[in-house]
Amino acid sequence: MAKKALVVYFTWTNGNTERIAQALQQALQADLLKITAPDDYHEDYDTVVRQSQEEIRRGYRPRIEPAQADLSAYDIIAIGSPTWWYSVAPPVSTFLETHDFTGKLVVPFTTNGGWPGHAINDIRKACAGATFLPDLAVKFDSTGGSQLVSSPEEINRWIQAVVKAADQQAEG
Ligand SMILES: Cc1cc2nc3c(=O)[nH]c(=O)nc-3n(C[C@H](O)[C@H](O)[C@H](O)COP(=O)(O)O)c2cc1C
Repeated sequence: MAKKALVVYFTWTNGNTERIAQALQQALQADLLKITAPDDYHEDYDTVVRQSQEEIRRGYRPRIEPAQADLSAYDIIAIGSPTWWYSVAPPVSTFLETHDFTGKLVVPFTTNGGWPGHAINDIRKACAGATFLPDLAVKFDSTGGSQLVSSPEEINRWIQAVVKAADQQAEG
């Protein structure tokens, strides 16, 4: 039976992560869930960049909406985050730490400006008990803009690899 997929993501600067989330959603015929942090990140870019360094250092976990997502209907959970200070954005950490990924097939993906750091690995570490499908760190321009630097072919290859791995899991 086909696997049911959910693509969860946070985006803040340009919708870069949203763009990748939507492409994956279409290929997997997945549901899409955007998480927001309504109390945070209302300041300008430079202020948010500065503040979030300290937040990430001390492990700040902002309140997110929705606070809880029902993952029980899904076999595959793709989790997308912009890279913030070489890690995932704090709202994604909140999501990861308040949901159970045991037995799920998890697809980590991130976007970045050229310094991907350990963001993919941080998603993997936070999903205890999950099995991982192919992941991807997608590069956008180094000035924090919306210009895609990774090749569209690389993104398509990754999406096809995820779809294929999901099909194999469904057959097995
Ligand atoms: C607070 C903050 C921290 C960032 N830290 C990094 C970083 O460590 N490495 C990197 O390559 N890009 C970094 N960036 C750039 C973003 O990862 C990149 O622009 C991303 O594609 C934005 O995705 P979005 O439009 O979905 O928010 C940072 C951006 C912000 C706002």
